[in-house]
Amino acid sequence: MPTDTGASVPQPGAMSFAQSDCSDVVRHMDRVAKTACPATKPLVDQLLSARDAVAWFQVYKPDDLVGKGKIDRTAVSLLAGPGAAFDPEHGRMGFYFLRDGVEYAPHAHAPREIYAILSGTARYWNEVSGWSAYGAGDVIYTLEHRWHAMTTCNEPVLILWAWIGEDLNLVPILREEDQGSIPDGA
Ligand SMILES: [Fe+2]
Repeated sequence: MPTDTGASVPQPGAMSFAQSDCSDVVRHMDRVAKTACPATKPLVDQLLSARDAVAWFQVYKPDDLVGKGKIDRTAVSLLAGPGAAFDPEHGRMGFYFLRDGVEYAPHAHAPREIYAILSGTARYWNEVSGWSAYGAGDVIYTLEHRWHAMTTCNEPVLILWAWIGEDLNLVPILREEDQGSIPDGA
């Protein structure tokens, strides 16, 4: 469990992998074509051409997000996981799209996480390294049960995302509002 607070931590619920209405989010995806780097542009363009055939979902239910940032501006898809052609026992992989203006409050989960940023610039925080800016072509690695957060500014961000480890079907734990929804430095 996370170790940087003595306050009580909410328990995670089950992830819903069913397609949800993310059309309001996904319609902003065109802009990522302009902020890819040469190495990521081919994959970004392929996803943009296929995005309407992709099942997008939102990780959190609206009631879970009250006072915890602007996370409803995000959408996730699965390349590997429940409902995908390949469902590995110890891994999940997919695309993660964040609109402009996202404030993804500190959260933690059991799997280790890899973000490969395909397009756009985001600010990422974890409880050890603090805040840094990352852009297209950068890779971010997060250890299991480590508090981490992310914000976007005036451009959307597209990420190739993977989880490795246990408890793959649990929603990440969001830090309680009285513990600071977004750390200083965002
Ligand atoms: Fe995460």
